[in-house]
Amino acid sequence: MAPVTVNQQPAPTEANLKAEVRVFNPFYSPSIGDDGDNTYEHSQYKPSFPELAWEPLTEVQVAERGLSADPSKQSLFKAAEKVRHLTPVIGTEILGLDLRQLSDTQKDELALLVAERGVVFFRDQEISIHEQLDLARHFGPLHKHATTPIPRNGLEEVHVVYNDSSRRPDPAAFSKLELWHSDVSYEIQPPGATSLKLLTGPEVGGDTLWSSGYALYSSLSPGFQKYLEGLTALHSAVAQAEGARAAGLHVRRQEIETAHPVVRVHPATGWKSVYVNPGFTRRIIGVPKAESDAILTFLFRQISENPDHQVRFKWERNSVAIWDNRVVFHSATFDFWPATRHALRATPHGEKPISVADYEEQTGKQAKDRQLATWEQQGITVEQHANGAATGAIKKRGYND
Ligand code: SIN
Repeated sequence: MAPVTVNQQPAPTEANLKAEVRVFNPFYSPSIGDDGDNTYEHSQYKPSFPELAWEPLTEVQVAERGLSADPSKQSLFKAAEKVRHLTPVIGTEILGLDLRQLSDTQKDELALLVAERGVVFFRDQEISIHEQLDLARHFGPLHKHATTPIPRNGLEEVHVVYNDSSRRPDPAAFSKLELWHSDVSYEIQPPGATSLKLLTGPEVGGDTLWSSGYALYSSLSPGFQKYLEGLTALHSAVAQAEGARAAGLHVRRQEIETAHPVVRVHPATGWKSVYVNPGFTRRIIGVPKAESDAILTFLFRQISENPDHQVRFKWERNSVAIWDNRVVFHSATFDFWPATRHALRATPHGEKPISVADYEEQTGKQAKDRQLATWEQQGITVEQHANGAATGAIKKRGYND
């Protein structure tokens, strides 16, 4: 019999145990890395963490721009060279349009397009961060993040995304699942149409993925959809604030926890979207913990694993993505170390999330399932039994390849 070798780990010393716990989670602990290269062309937008103290956020008025848009979006589409959908349910690329040149009419149409498609991509945009902030202000008052870096030049409304060779994200510190989130969903009025422009990026890697909350809702059986529509969930800023403190950083606004409906309705589309995310949603309120854990685990896994609901974007320098945080989740990849990846985000507040019951009461309209509404527009009728089985015009087919 061959000798059996047992790999013995050396006994952990206090020093290597400390190193073990000081791992870097790029989501909850923002990057404080800096390669020290001040000749870098975008140095003024490198991360800084000023010790500011901000008051708690209070409710603000938000006018939904998508409601003022021409549903055919003629003005926006006419100005573009090409508009192409990247998947049936999420993601559209617009080519040959300069975001600096948009009229207010085109901005409203863009708001509606982003609300419908979840995320819209642009290439070769020369838009400055000041112009990016102005565009975002058209969609709503700007959010200031309590923990993530702002640029060195002091623009407090800008969220800086920055990683360089000085720190390697450690896979021991986080799972890919928990990177999926909807931005700052713990706020009283979480963001709507949010934009990110890439200043510098790796040749390959550093892609971002988005997953549709509308498609997740549509994929569920009618009984389960109804059940979720009656629930609220707790969203928490605590882990992010603690992650910042653990990294030795100042928290600029006291962390909060907020309850939001598990299914919200987008005010411009009237479509229902699942609104829980692995990054910030902690529990469903008022149900046994085991039930909450099982439901959230199922929904989180659908968000992160169901490719039919997702789109993946390969960034180039000066690419811009605009996504509607009310109806999509996203996750960046951290596969590009030691390259630098640097981007700037502008984040307008949306309305307080609206439940299905409140939407229907306030508007007198029926909130819709995006997939069924789309099929209806195409003249296709799908009847559904309460157990989720489709009948009528469409025959279900199994997986056969
Ligand atoms: C974000 O979460 O807003 C940033 C996404 C990214 O870095 O691609």
